[in-house]
Amino acid sequence: MSISENKQAWQETVVKKNLAKAPERQESFRTSSDLEVERCFAPDFEYPQYDEQLGFPGQYPFTRGVQPTMYRGRFWTMRQYAGFGTAAESNERYKYLLSAGQTGLSIAFDLPTQMGYDSDAAMARGEVGKVGVAVDSLADMEVLFDGIPLDKVSTSMTINSTASILLAMYIAVAEKQGVSPAQISGTIQNDILKEYMARGTYIYPPKESMRIITDIFAYCKDNVPKWNTISISGYHIREAGSSAVQEVAFTLADGIAYVDAAIKAGLDVDQFAPRLAFFFNSHNNLLEEVAKFRAARRMWAKIMKDRFKAKDPRSMMLRFHTQTAGCTLTAQQPDNNIMRVTLQALAAVLGGTQSLHTNSRDEALALPTEDSVRIALRTQQVIAYESGVADSADPLAGSFLVESLTDQIEKEATAYIERIDALGGAVEAISRGFQQKEIQDSAYAYQRSIEKNETIIVGVNKFTVAEKAPEGLLKVKEEVELSQKAALAKMKGQRDDAKVEATLKALAGAAQGTDNLMPFILDAVKSYATLGEIANVLREVFGVHRETVVL
Ligand code: 3HC
Repeated sequence: MSISENKQAWQETVVKKNLAKAPERQESFRTSSDLEVERCFAPDFEYPQYDEQLGFPGQYPFTRGVQPTMYRGRFWTMRQYAGFGTAAESNERYKYLLSAGQTGLSIAFDLPTQMGYDSDAAMARGEVGKVGVAVDSLADMEVLFDGIPLDKVSTSMTINSTASILLAMYIAVAEKQGVSPAQISGTIQNDILKEYMARGTYIYPPKESMRIITDIFAYCKDNVPKWNTISISGYHIREAGSSAVQEVAFTLADGIAYVDAAIKAGLDVDQFAPRLAFFFNSHNNLLEEVAKFRAARRMWAKIMKDRFKAKDPRSMMLRFHTQTAGCTLTAQQPDNNIMRVTLQALAAVLGGTQSLHTNSRDEALALPTEDSVRIALRTQQVIAYESGVADSADPLAGSFLVESLTDQIEKEATAYIERIDALGGAVEAISRGFQQKEIQDSAYAYQRSIEKNETIIVGVNKFTVAEKAPEGLLKVKEEVELSQKAALAKMKGQRDDAKVEATLKALAGAAQGTDNLMPFILDAVKSYATLGEIANVLREVFGVHRETVVL
């Protein structure tokens, strides 16, 4: 069939079915000159690779997007990463963001919570409430989501080693609101491999970490069907200095490792793969970033279909969240960051993201103020409602540059994945420091190019001005550590210690065996066992990971 005939067929099947459940937001989409903007433009001339390499949105290989109508049916979720201080302070910020029009929540936890320490642990000193909200027990989670209906909003939680504990707390809070686990939607990052590779908030050794992750896959498949069980992340790989090609390659190689592990744990690929999600960076080179997102979608579709023999099209859809590149924010002339973030956000939208966080202009200096975070959110809203780029799927398709970069990124990222396969897969390659070394080499080359003025950063190595020290920055209150520790001591004084003890003992038994850990963690959380107490039970049984030294 010709491309036009295929397009007709796509409209009459995939699109029609989709429109029945999710009508588009307008009757018709037209420009200021009253010219029609089609749902998806396609060539009306010979384009031999079209069906195999591009196809139509919502159809394999999903190069042009995962949804048939893309943003005509629903804008991407505007989901600002936020959290600091106590649960009460963060709850206030979430309500502010929701009132400003954001459409999804994204929780930032402090490092003690991410690393499995309570606020009163020696290891937590100086970090409580700093880079995210402090959560020690279910009591804090109840405050964190107070007044936020968990059957109405989807919540992402940036949590990895302790993801199972925070997911259990979220389920428990929802149940207290009368919302069943089957009704809640959201995501846990739960991507331990990139923590070993680039971000560092790991606790347990790889094998035990993978067991926890596949236990979450199995538990959610049966009990929390709308929950995205992992957000396989390239964001931090890019933040560590990788190239776009490396970001795609190392992220998808991690994805392959998770799918392999889940299948080895006895799960059928189509039972869990539809709820795998991804998370990418959006960096400065707009056209390369658009091509990167398109290449990643096509690669994942082929990997799931050809390598893992997935049958369900939803298993082949690479659904992803994007955060604009924190590493490109400058402390110099902070308002310049508004323009950087705008271009990076535009790239994510032109690249078909499902969810987006836009960085605030002051985040190279401190946590964002309300003014700064509102500008960041308004950036998304202007792109969505005023630019017109959300009116047609994959609008840059057919561009000689974008299609060529898409093909080249796919080719080079595939070559990297083959190298990682030859090393025994992502887990083995990480243990040898392969990805880490590649990232370090890229980071060094990029930094050298800035220092040699080959790469221009406006306000940093060109167009500089003398600047005063910035004022009005948001500082986390020093007393947060004290107040958090006092609240924790009070909570411990009110709980049933025998019950806590019993649930922790049962968890230890499960960890020593092969039972799914989630039900035991849920019981412990509901008894108000703390995050640190639960993490320590698993430390006792699993041990802790020691970093590979990359020479
Ligand atoms: N037509 C019909 N239906 C549509 C549609 C359309 N055009 N567009 C969307 N939908 C449907 C979807 O199918 C979905 O329904 P389903 O769940 O029944 O399938 C629903 O609308 C919601 O759409 P999405 O799932 O696309 O959007 P979400 O926002 O809910 O999910 C995600 C997006 C990428 C799949 C999810 O994993 C997500 O939200 N991820 C966010 C991760 C995140 O925020 N991470 C932040 C990390 S911060 C960090 O790590 C950095 C720090 O370290 C510095």
